[in-house]
Amino acid sequence: MSNKSYYITTPIYYPSDNLHIGHAYTTVAADCIARFKRMQGFDVFYLTGTDEHGQKIEKVALEKGMKPQDYVDGIVVGIKKLWETMLISNDDFIRTTEARHEEVVKKLFQKVYEQGDIYISEYEGWYCTPCETFFTERQLDDRKCPDCGRTVEKLKEESYFFNMAKYAPRLLEHIDKHPDFIQPESRRNEVINFVKSGLDDLCVSRTTFNWGVGVPFNDKHVVYVWFDALINYLSAIGYMDDKEKFNKYWPASVHLMAKDILRFHAIIWPIMLMAMDLPLPEKVFAHGWIMLEGGKMSKSKGNVIDPMVLVNKYGVDAVRYYLVKELNFGQDGMYSEEMLVNRINSDLANDLGNLISRTVAMISRYFDSRIPEPGKADDPDQELITTASVAYEEATEKLEKLDFAFYIQSVLKLISRANKYIDETQPWLLAKDESKHDRLGTVLYNLLESIRIALIILAPTMPTLAARANQQLNIFEHPDSLKWEEARTWGLTQAGKLVSRGPALFPRLDLKALDEDSPEVKTAEEDTKEKKEESNLIDIEDFAKIDLRVATVIACEKMKKADKLLVLTLQLGEEQRTVVSGIAKAYEPEQLVGKKVVLVANLKPVKLRGVLSQGMILAASDSQDNDIEVLSVERIASGNRVK
Ligand code: ME8
Repeated sequence: MSNKSYYITTPIYYPSDNLHIGHAYTTVAADCIARFKRMQGFDVFYLTGTDEHGQKIEKVALEKGMKPQDYVDGIVVGIKKLWETMLISNDDFIRTTEARHEEVVKKLFQKVYEQGDIYISEYEGWYCTPCETFFTERQLDDRKCPDCGRTVEKLKEESYFFNMAKYAPRLLEHIDKHPDFIQPESRRNEVINFVKSGLDDLCVSRTTFNWGVGVPFNDKHVVYVWFDALINYLSAIGYMDDKEKFNKYWPASVHLMAKDILRFHAIIWPIMLMAMDLPLPEKVFAHGWIMLEGGKMSKSKGNVIDPMVLVNKYGVDAVRYYLVKELNFGQDGMYSEEMLVNRINSDLANDLGNLISRTVAMISRYFDSRIPEPGKADDPDQELITTASVAYEEATEKLEKLDFAFYIQSVLKLISRANKYIDETQPWLLAKDESKHDRLGTVLYNLLESIRIALIILAPTMPTLAARANQQLNIFEHPDSLKWEEARTWGLTQAGKLVSRGPALFPRLDLKALDEDSPEVKTAEEDTKEKKEESNLIDIEDFAKIDLRVATVIACEKMKKADKLLVLTLQLGEEQRTVVSGIAKAYEPEQLVGKKVVLVANLKPVKLRGVLSQGMILAASDSQDNDIEVLSVERIASGNRVK
């Protein structure tokens, strides 16, 4: 039996320029759903592409002294590269200048014309070229485009018109009968009101330029770019040349976009489909805009953010995570690099990264790296198991609804519950008592199970995470083809396999250190000619010779045959260091993992019991050295100076 099909689309973007993080927002969100559905066993078709005709593209190409096709060809190479880098798993990439698309546009235009829904007349009104949208006088906002605020131009030309009003009652009935057709709810109401206020016939051809699909029966006209573009959703799945494929995927499960182009998808497109005798898509979902301080991102404001730069800087999983979490069910989201870095540090480095590194470190230490067998479940175990099951149910439900932020919240709750479980069960104390060895095994097994479930739930968002984590955890047979169902069942981790410690999956980031433009602040003391007093006091220059840095303990273990010494692995910005420290009497290794300590970073390395110690961590102690307390910081990120 063939699997149930699922067809998801993004808008086809204008290749008038390179794409920005707003386009990445929709494309990553759609990719997250496509991956989720594939993990559920659906036969998914995920489509994206480019909308290459129209006056706007022609104008930009002319400004560059290029033919429109040559111009867009160059941009499209960059777009495809971007999607590849962002691990977008689209099954096809449609370009409206491809013959397979143009033929379908001609055929459908002809069909609608022949049945009398398209007629010729004269258009007189206003046009916004950046939005490729017609407006009537009363729709304008102070003579400007009501959507983008830019100058509109007056058009008077012979045009073909599409009789939309005829289909309005059928559209309203469809919306009424299918409450999920337009989502979110608030957008649905907006569309209903708009349709009820009366639909003008739509101008569907232009004569003043020729960069478009020619009207088949009148070569003076090219098809209006939106009438052309929307048809991509049919042409890409073989409307003309592959009936079997077409019937498998049409109607689409969901068209995803931002609210700016909802009316095209929720009014014009369904009416076109009705006129073409085709079923309507199951869902049209409009998410909000990603905003920057100072408003919406736009080329004309010059405030666009290049997603490629972010991915190169922070890694694809982290950038995708940020975007998905920012998508708050139709609401606008804010972007700032600082917020992105904070998310990575708090959710990924601190909560998830530390959970994984602590668990692996404890299994290595207490069970010779072998995943222990679980025993009978205790109280806090039951609560953890229930949290995992709720996370699975919630994540599934929220993803079905395209409620991305809450889907992420559901898995964050599990991760935080698992971290709390470590505090409650105190594995380092269990490890001290031989009779509690089995209990310790159960606790560590349960932690691995929580991690396994969290990683599966996060896989649609962060496609490389499970495989990377698995190098340490060894819990997945096939980390690249995880099944969603496997997150539903507790206890699938196999005992007896070997874990191995590795580098932090999400090293903590320091926004300032990453910002190449920010000048280094140095306390350059001017040469003082004053005589220095002969005393014990040191100069600031003397103190400045000591390079003190914040460093995160990412792993820690006891030095074999040395009861005072601990061997710590520290993350210092991008670098890792090993440091031997005489604090074993005061700390269990696990208590230090995750702490940010102060390191003398430029101390000459020394070998202690065969281990090369690259620096010294600072600690306070009482006069007899009975009690020792390691100095630590809370807010400042690893790699920063202490001065
Ligand atoms: O409208 N926030 O193409 P387009 C969120 N070619 N999403 C954003 C965004 C932002 N700041 N900026 C862009 C077109 N987007 C037509 C579509 S479909 C048949 C034809 C995303 O290049 C969002 O999905 O202007 C928005 O709807 C789309 O890019 C607009 O892309």
